[in-house]
Amino acid sequence: SNDVSADLAHVLYTKDQIQDKIAEMAAAIDKDYEGRDILVVGVLKGAVMVMADLSRALHSHVTMDWMAVSSYGSGTTSSGVVRILKDLDTDLMGKHVLIVEDIIDSGLTLSWLKSNLESRGPASVEICTLLRKPEAAKVEIDVKYVGFDCPNEFVVGYGLDFAEKYRNLDFIGTLAPHVYN
Ligand code: PRP
Ligand code: MN
Ligand code: MG
Repeated sequence: SNDVSADLAHVLYTKDQIQDKIAEMAAAIDKDYEGRDILVVGVLKGAVMVMADLSRALHSHVTMDWMAVSSYGSGTTSSGVVRILKDLDTDLMGKHVLIVEDIIDSGLTLSWLKSNLESRGPASVEICTLLRKPEAAKVEIDVKYVGFDCPNEFVVGYGLDFAEKYRNLDFIGTLAPHVYN
């Protein structure tokens, strides 16, 4: 069978649970940024689904930009040193920047990215992530908006991939062992 559902062990967050959480986060963001324009920065590629749904749930004035980054040393452990594959088109001077992510795993990507964007003269930089794995954290990051704290398992769907697959699922699940073994 070519059905992706056969590759999943179980569903962690359904489409409805994700959409409810996004609406909740959007309401909190609108409240916090009242009267201010927001520059939302999506981190390619995982954040595309959260960006698409969160931005449409916001009532604030929003502009959208994108970055693509990659950890140095394409192997085993992440070094925390990040290479910019695609930089922002926007000048951050004086802007209220909200970085949008699908997941914080070790935290190394966002830790580097937050400092990098803070060095560009923005009025503020905050982080919004749909998922966070508390047990996998290697660095402390101040994250203002977190959707779900999730188990330290291989999660896919709603932007999250395994070997570039499963990003298109509208729910989030754990991968069945036969797929990665
Ligand atoms: C994943 C995820 C986050 C990052 C989190 O991206 O989308 O961006 O890893 O990991 P960390 O907290 O340990 O740094 P990935 O590098 O797989 O690229 P992708 O978004 O294109 O899948
Ligand atoms: Mn990513
Ligand atoms: Mg990935």
